[in-house]
Amino acid sequence: MSGSAKKLHVITWGCQMNVYDSGRMADVLAPLGYAPTAAPDDADMVILNTCHIRERAEEKVFSELGRLRLVQQARAAAGRRTILAVAGCVAQAEGEEVLARAPYVDIVLGPQTYHRLPEMVARASRAAGAVIETDFPAEDKFDHLPANDGKHGITAFLTIQEGCDKFCAFCVVPYTRGAEVSRPARAVLAEARTLIAAGVREITLLGQNVNAWHGQAPDGGTWSFAQLLRALAALPGLLRIRYTTSHPRDVRDDLIEAHRDEPKLMPFLHLPVQSGSDRVLAAMNRRHTAADYRATVDRLRAGRPDLALSSDFIVGHPGETDADFRATLDLVRDIGFAQAFSFKYSPRPGTPAASAPKQVPGPVKDARLQELLALLRQLQAEFNRRTEGLVLPVLLTGPGRKPGQLAGRSPYLQPVHLPGPIALIGTETQVRIVRAHPNSLTGTLQQEKLTA
Ligand code: SAH
Ligand code: SF4
Ligand code: F3S
Repeated sequence: MSGSAKKLHVITWGCQMNVYDSGRMADVLAPLGYAPTAAPDDADMVILNTCHIRERAEEKVFSELGRLRLVQQARAAAGRRTILAVAGCVAQAEGEEVLARAPYVDIVLGPQTYHRLPEMVARASRAAGAVIETDFPAEDKFDHLPANDGKHGITAFLTIQEGCDKFCAFCVVPYTRGAEVSRPARAVLAEARTLIAAGVREITLLGQNVNAWHGQAPDGGTWSFAQLLRALAALPGLLRIRYTTSHPRDVRDDLIEAHRDEPKLMPFLHLPVQSGSDRVLAAMNRRHTAADYRATVDRLRAGRPDLALSSDFIVGHPGETDADFRATLDLVRDIGFAQAFSFKYSPRPGTPAASAPKQVPGPVKDARLQELLALLRQLQAEFNRRTEGLVLPVLLTGPGRKPGQLAGRSPYLQPVHLPGPIALIGTETQVRIVRAHPNSLTGTLQQEKLTA
């Protein structure tokens, strides 16, 4: 242990892309002598990697900043400096507002500028005023970040695409993350190889619209997302591939074929639909109908009948009537989602929906959310129950909470707990599912039958 080493504490909100980015920010600061700490009052630098998707997400940032200010003051009284940085989508969307409300913040940086963090830290250490970097620089941050070296364990995220050109009426992402950009296949494959060499067995590809990825092929041509998936599936040592988040409009035929043919591609798909009502989908500018979504799911399931589906829903989007909401419940029942996330519509400043007429009253949103959540919970429990008694390949990712226990994931992303030796961690092992719980499964190692 080095007494002079500096400590870094990172708090992450929002989507998995933020989780990935937080790891990369820690990587870029490691050469400056920053080592991670779980204790904010021990940290020479604290990064809040923020989310702007809903109002509550933003409020959490400001209340955390209030707490950190006290830490900063207490440390200053002891002669120790604490650099406070706000990164992520609140920084991008509300950078000036952050500095106005929290002038003790030293650095405000948008998601496209993380590779410049060392320079910003150096400037902040010298300067009295705050450093703010929220433009979309011409250089690609991925070219300037150190290689993702995979201090990850068995599963890892890999960002392959950023930004969004879809402009759903309710959503801030096109403003906070900028235009859609795909990383070249060569860079993605190189990062995947590094992760696999470090022991990663499952990679989850990330992007705000991951299946819109279309990028430079290693031979200079262009690949579709499905072609990238196939190239990744050919990498020795990689057992499982997942991806998130997908847009229904970008599910192309060759992706459906990949789900049919490629065993490493897990039979679980997070495919947000938001609403089951065509009126609301149009108001949302989703540019697909409920029937389009059902047809896409039918085609996916024709190739991969056990495909488990997950989705995001928004209740109470401006203009949503009770009949619209019933259409969402119908769609949910028809598809039979294995899991899903649902949110009350939250007006985001600057988005078209925020100023749309017919905002839905809070209590109506509350009631609809509760009804939808109850239905989704019931479907998830049914889905989990249907796996009882089955033997499933489980990727064992680590020790369980109790001694002698292992934890892993089913192909359908269900957490599985079972007794077993730690030597099995990192392997895909046949597990008999003994019991389904609301959010997880318990199982036992499937014993080979020795006699017929
Ligand atoms: N790119 C993904 C989702 C990104 S945001 C997609 O297109 O599906 C994650 C989820 O947050 C969205 O799917 C949506 O359900 C929810 N969300 C986004 N903006 C919201 C808002 N203003 N109010 C409530 N929920 C919202
Ligand atoms: Fe937001 Fe729509 Fe883009 Fe998803 S597709 S990130 S919901 S604008
Ligand atoms: Fe939130 Fe930004 Fe992700 S707004 S959901 S952290 S892209």
